[in-house]
Amino acid sequence: MKNTLHFGDNLNVMHEMPSESYHLCYLDPPFNSGRNYNIFLANSKAQKKAFGDIWHWDDTAIATRDAITHYNGRHPELIDVMENVSECLHGFDTILKSSGRHGDSMRAYLTFMAPRLAEIYRLLKPTGSIYLHCDPHASHYLKCLLDVIFRPENFRNELTWFKGYRGTPRKNRYQQEHETILFYSKTNAYTWNNIFSEYKDPDLKRYNKVDSEGNRYALVKRQRTNGEVYYGKTYPRGKLQGDVIEIPVLASTSKERLGYPTQKPLALLERIIKASSNPGDTVFDPFCGCGTTIDAAHGLNRHWVGIDLTVLALEPMERRLQERHGLQANRDYHIEGYPTTHQDAVLLAEQSPNDFANWAVTRLGLSPTPNSNDGGFDGTGKMLLWENRHVAETEQQKLPVIAEVKSGRSLTPNQVRAFRTAMQDQGAAIGIFVTLHPVTRGMRNLAEAEGFFEHNNKRYPRLQFWQINDSYFTDGTILVSLPWQIDERLKASPHHDSQSTLF
Ligand SMILES: C[S@@+](CC[C@H](N)C(=O)[O-])C[C@H]1O[C@@H](n2cnc3c(N)ncnc32)[C@H](O)[C@@H]1O
Repeated sequence: MKNTLHFGDNLNVMHEMPSESYHLCYLDPPFNSGRNYNIFLANSKAQKKAFGDIWHWDDTAIATRDAITHYNGRHPELIDVMENVSECLHGFDTILKSSGRHGDSMRAYLTFMAPRLAEIYRLLKPTGSIYLHCDPHASHYLKCLLDVIFRPENFRNELTWFKGYRGTPRKNRYQQEHETILFYSKTNAYTWNNIFSEYKDPDLKRYNKVDSEGNRYALVKRQRTNGEVYYGKTYPRGKLQGDVIEIPVLASTSKERLGYPTQKPLALLERIIKASSNPGDTVFDPFCGCGTTIDAAHGLNRHWVGIDLTVLALEPMERRLQERHGLQANRDYHIEGYPTTHQDAVLLAEQSPNDFANWAVTRLGLSPTPNSNDGGFDGTGKMLLWENRHVAETEQQKLPVIAEVKSGRSLTPNQVRAFRTAMQDQGAAIGIFVTLHPVTRGMRNLAEAEGFFEHNNKRYPRLQFWQINDSYFTDGTILVSLPWQIDERLKASPHHDSQSTLF
């Protein structure tokens, strides 16, 4: 199988993949933590978040629930699974119905996760395993879903990733020092390799004997059941890995860090991949972020396939594959769903307007809004207008910027009016209206009437247009006018040539 990175919503991408393709799936989806990651700072040192983790019971959730309840049987092996998933989700509705907004948010999150877990089940080979990384917000519900899809007898472990505590201490509860990884196999006949945790005596002093094959060992005093004492050989392999994996979370100064907010340590993924796959197998990560799974899999001679929604993730991924393994996109691995020409962009917009909108707003350094049809804008972020190391980030002046993407040819002043309303609702200092085709004079007139945002004696139009055209794909030009810090970053690489300053 060719190593591939896909850009797009993993549910759409997985639908198209053949059944029983992968030996191992690790996924680290958003957790429903309630944190909003949708803030993007202009300063290249402060490159930030790629996605939000706030869920709403909205039209998307309702449509997804409907698609589960009335599963169209596209993959016949999922018909029964989807029926069970649907019942499970109804059970969650009963549990969560009295929890108001939080309950709705959890229902939306679980409705998002359920069909994706079912697809992963289909995509795994009979010997395959899934590792679902989650935190305490939703792990108990996700375990129920996995029981329904993979069946309880295929539950193998609930791993605790003991990561240690970093950040501001919480005063009214215990510090959260771990995350949970749920491990299920698809069947009873699954790939398994014993993993030994690292030996804690690095100088191996007690292993002062050498056997006929040159391996060091120690003689350890033992007792048989009949009381007889004997000396047995012990080799320095460490002890069998338990279900608590102790690996510190990446420090902010760690060389491994790529600036991606939820990046996991390579060592964690290496341990999982070694335990549940063999060299030559294919490892799959449908929420691959900045590519920790991909990097670990490649280093361990496995094939790999990753999916992520945001190009903000694909760029650091390419960088690490280049720097650590000398791999080059389109030579050593495929990239799917990522426009590199104007024609690609038109095609993506036709096939998947949401993915196109996500791609376009992330080109501006903004974060996609969770539901692109909601609220009249597709991307949001904040401009940092000045920076002072001695002032807390939260107190620095940040102004909201929003963007709306219209990929069709039919462009009308009413669309600009609707966007203007969204700008007012969001208190946006600047709005960017993105198109693939030229806007009309009437649209320009409306934009001009919005006037200017002034900063440092310079004026920036409050409502600007960015028409994505060939020049963007050839030299990265984005003709919008913003205060210098954002300008700097916007001049960054337009596509996956790994030089972006976003991260
Ligand atoms: C917690 S991060 C994964 C981090 C990753 N394990 C790493 O070490 O970099 C979750 C990722 O899921 C992606 N994501 C969220 N929804 C998605 C979807 N529907 N399809 C594909 N990717 C999605 C986000 O863009 C984000 O990069």
